[in-house]
Amino acid sequence: MTASTPAAARTRRQHHTDELRFLTCGSVDDGKSTLIGRLLYESKLLPSDHLAALEADSRRAGTRGGELDFALLVDGLAAEREQGITIDVAYRFFATERRRFVVADTPGHEQYTRNMVTGASNAEAAVVLLDARTGVLTQTRRHARLLALLGIRHVALAVNKLDLVGYSRSVFEKISGQFREFAAGIGLDDVTCIPTSAVHGDNVTARSDATPWYGGPTLLGWLESVEPAAASGGPARFLVQWVNRPEPGFRGYSGQVVRGRLRRGDRVRVAPGNIEATVGRIVTMDGDLDEATRGMATTVMLDDDVDVSRGDVLAAAGDPVDTATAFQAHLVWLDEREMLPGRQYLAKLGASTVGLTVETPKYRVDVDSGNHLPARTLRRDEIAVANVHLDTEVAYEPYRTASELGSFIVLDRLGNATAGAGMIDFALRRSATVRWQSVTVDKNARSARNGHRPCVVWFTGLSGAGKSTIADLVEKALHAQGRHTFLLDGDNVRHGLNKDLGFTDADRVENIRRIGEVAALMVDAGLIVLASFISPFRQERALARGLVEPGEFCEVHVDAPLEHVERRDPKGLYARARRGELANFTGIDSPYEPPERPEIRLDTTALTAEQAAEEVLARLRETGVLRGS
Ligand code: ADX
Repeated sequence: MTASTPAAARTRRQHHTDELRFLTCGSVDDGKSTLIGRLLYESKLLPSDHLAALEADSRRAGTRGGELDFALLVDGLAAEREQGITIDVAYRFFATERRRFVVADTPGHEQYTRNMVTGASNAEAAVVLLDARTGVLTQTRRHARLLALLGIRHVALAVNKLDLVGYSRSVFEKISGQFREFAAGIGLDDVTCIPTSAVHGDNVTARSDATPWYGGPTLLGWLESVEPAAASGGPARFLVQWVNRPEPGFRGYSGQVVRGRLRRGDRVRVAPGNIEATVGRIVTMDGDLDEATRGMATTVMLDDDVDVSRGDVLAAAGDPVDTATAFQAHLVWLDEREMLPGRQYLAKLGASTVGLTVETPKYRVDVDSGNHLPARTLRRDEIAVANVHLDTEVAYEPYRTASELGSFIVLDRLGNATAGAGMIDFALRRSATVRWQSVTVDKNARSARNGHRPCVVWFTGLSGAGKSTIADLVEKALHAQGRHTFLLDGDNVRHGLNKDLGFTDADRVENIRRIGEVAALMVDAGLIVLASFISPFRQERALARGLVEPGEFCEVHVDAPLEHVERRDPKGLYARARRGELANFTGIDSPYEPPERPEIRLDTTALTAEQAAEEVLARLRETGVLRGS
C-alpha cells in the first residue's frame, strides 16, 4: 500500500495526550517574563545552551545582582522577533514527570487582542498575572474577558510580587475575592488564585514558607492538575484534509481526528452530505490501526461507496454534526485594513476554505467594560457580533460546545493574509430554508427573443472623468437600434435604492455590492446594463463581475488623470473637497484603484465622448453581444 503518503508520514507526529497548552496574560511589569523563565528553569528541561547564555547574560545585564534573571530568558525572544520574523506569540516548551507543557507567551502591551487570540488557539488553560501592589486593573479585566470569549475554561490568577506587600494574606484575599467575583460574572467559573513571587520563587514550583496561610496548589501543581476538556472524550470527529487515490481500488480519506476516537467498524455520518458509512480501515505508514485518537493524522477507508470530499467531516453516526451556510459569529478583527461588510473574504473552517461575507455588525464589544457599542465596520483588535454568510455549506459546531469545528480564520482574498478570526455562536436557520427557486423562462429564453445577449458594461473612473456622458451616448445608440437597455448611474441610484449610503469605504463597498446584484438581476431579465459608478475598489468590481457569467461583463476604465478632472470639475466638487467641505472625496482623500486589465480603456483626455462611445459599441459588436447588427 501507499507507505509514502504524506498523511501516513504525519501519523507519526502524534498528539501527546498528556500535554497542556496554556497561555500567559499580563505585562512584563507584572513579572510575567520572570515567572515563565522560572517555570522553564525549575522544570530543568531548558536546553543547556540557553541556560549557559542566561547565566552569562545575568552576570552582565541582569538586574538581580548575581542571581539568574529569568526575565532575560523570555525577553530574549524579542530579539528573535526583531530579526524580521513577525512572531508576536512566543511558544516555549517544558515538561515535568507528569506532563508536557506548551506555553504561549503573549506580549502584554501592544496588540494584545491579536496576540491573545493567536495564543489562545488550542490553549486549554491560562495564567493571568497581576501585581499585588496594584490589584485588579482594567488590563486584568480585559484579559479575563478575552479568555471567556475565547472559551478558555481553566484560569489561574497569579497574585504576583507578594513579597512587595509583605506576603500579606489580606491583600491576597482581597484581590482574589475581587477577581473571582468579576470572573464569575463573565462566565469563567474555574478560577484558582495563587499568591506568588516569581522573583523569589514563592509558590511557583515549590510551596513557600512565607505564605503558611495558603493551602492551595503551587502554580506548577495547578498546571499539572488541570483537566483539559474532553482530551479524547466526546463524539468522534474526523476532518478530511484530502482524498487520497494513489491507485485504482484504493480510496482513502486523509485527515485528522479532532475529537473523540475513531475505531474500525464504527458507523460514521458524513457532513455535508448526510450519508452513513462504516470505517473499513485506519491506515498509517506503520500499518493498520484499530483506532485513531484525537490529534492523530491518518487515512481512513470506508466500506461503503460514498462520496466524501476535502473539508467534509466524518462524525460518529449517533452524534452527527450539523451543516449550514450562515451563522451568527463573534469576530475578532486582526488586519490593519478595516473589515468592510459585504466585501468578499475567505473563511478557513476545519479543512475547508470557502467564500465569506460579513453583514454590518450587530454590535461591537468593548473589552474593557463589556458594553455593546454600535459599529459599521471593524478595526484591528476590535471584537464584534455579526451575521456571516458562506458561499458553500460547511459542517460546523457552535464554538461553545466544540471549538474544533466552531472557529474559523478569515483571510483576505487578495493577499491570503489572516484578516480576522471568528467563533460560531449558532447557525442562521434561514440558510437552510431559503432555497434557490428555479424558473422556466430564463435568460436564454429572453435573450433569444431580444436578439441580443444580455451583459453588463461597467464604467469605472474618477468623478468627472466622463463615465455618465459616455454611458448615456452608448445607451442612446443601443436604444435607437431597438435594444433593451438600462443605465444605472451613481448619482441617480443614490437618490433611491442607495440613499442610506454615503462615501466611507464601507458604504462604497455596499453601494457596489447592491449595484452588482441589481445589474445581475437585469442581466437575467435580458437587458444590456450600463453601470456608471466610480467603484473605486478592485475587489468590489471583481465581485460585480463574478455575479454574472464569464463574457457577460465588460469593464470600461474611463481614464483621466486627477489634474485633468480637477481642472474640469463639472460639478464643482473637487473645489469643495479641496476646501475641506466634502470628506472622503475620491482622488483627494479617498483611494481609487485603477483596473489592471479592463476590457476597454478610454483615455478621455484624447477622445471625444462620441469617439469613446463608439469604441464601446464596436466592442459590443465584436464580442457578439449585438447579434443581427
Ligand atoms: S462609488 O465610489 O460608491 O462608486 P458613486 O459612483 O456611487 O461612488 O457616486 C459618485 C458620485 O457621488 C460622484 O460623481 C459625485 O457626484 C458624488 N459625490 C459626492 N460626494 C462624493 C465623494 N466624497 N466622493 C466621490 N463622489 C462623491
